[in-house]
Amino acid sequence: MNLAAPPIHSPMVEPSADQCRILVDRAFAASGVKINPGKTEFIHLRVSRRLNALGLDGYDAYMDLLDADTAGSELRCLVEALTTHTTSFFRERHQYDWLVREGLERIGERGAGFERPLTVWSAACSTGAELWSAAMVLEDAARSPGGLRKYQLIGTDISRPVLKKAKGATYSAIEIEGVAPAQRQRYLMRSRTATDLERRPYYRIVPELRERATFEWANLSNLVGVRDFGADIAFLRNVLIYFPEDVQERVLSAVVGRLRPGGILFTGHAEAVSPRAGLRSIGPSIYEKV
Ligand SMILES: C[S@@+](CC[C@H](N)C(=O)[O-])C[C@H]1O[C@@H](n2cnc3c(N)ncnc32)[C@H](O)[C@@H]1O
Repeated sequence: MNLAAPPIHSPMVEPSADQCRILVDRAFAASGVKINPGKTEFIHLRVSRRLNALGLDGYDAYMDLLDADTAGSELRCLVEALTTHTTSFFRERHQYDWLVREGLERIGERGAGFERPLTVWSAACSTGAELWSAAMVLEDAARSPGGLRKYQLIGTDISRPVLKKAKGATYSAIEIEGVAPAQRQRYLMRSRTATDLERRPYYRIVPELRERATFEWANLSNLVGVRDFGADIAFLRNVLIYFPEDVQERVLSAVVGRLRPGGILFTGHAEAVSPRAGLRSIGPSIYEKV
């Protein structure tokens, strides 16, 4: 019989106002993501998981660790903890519907997909659902008579864990809920072994799509890792909202700078685009580079 008393876990004390400010300032400097330092509960909720993982009992120890972190590895984990990666297949479905209805034809008239590959860039791709949804739409077009012939997909994000998942291209039954049955059948393979906790299988994007895509680390706020290429379609969705106005303008200008003339930009529905950005609105959260 084990007579040892069970361990007593005292609840971790929330970070002080000063510690919150330091945490959000550091995350901002590394990512451009601005968090209100007054949101103590939110900051604590996100960062305390990191403390638990490191076996630290309080924020003083975590601050010491951040100070000693000359390689920046803990700073990356802090950014990871404080950023949001929510995404889903066919999010803002009307944008994909627009591509099918008229967008691809419009872009194709400029040679994209025919004389040269049509390039799609998902600029803050998270776990890849946004880019793989676009891949399904493009592959449908490629398989239809007279449809586009060549395309390539590029996904970038500041978070290495989400990029790993995007590259692995494997999703749970819940994650693929937004994919229509016909596209599921064409573009998702049922995993033979992996299952979730309720024994539902996982699904993997088929190799024909996987071989078209590359996923790369890049930081939109300072452009480190953002290559120079010409995109025909750029998704810049649900990331601008986390940046302050000056960073938003810088990021938008960098993304528009990488769009070909006539290229299409998709934003999130809550994201406003500056009239100075060199874009023309052609639909809800759909812009064309002028
Ligand atoms: C809410 S998710 C949006 C995902 C996807 N675009 C969508 O709308 O479904 C925001 C993503 O932006 C990424 N992110 C945040 N700051 C970034 C930065 N400075 N550079 C690149 N990606 C960043 C996060 O890692 C996260 O994956």
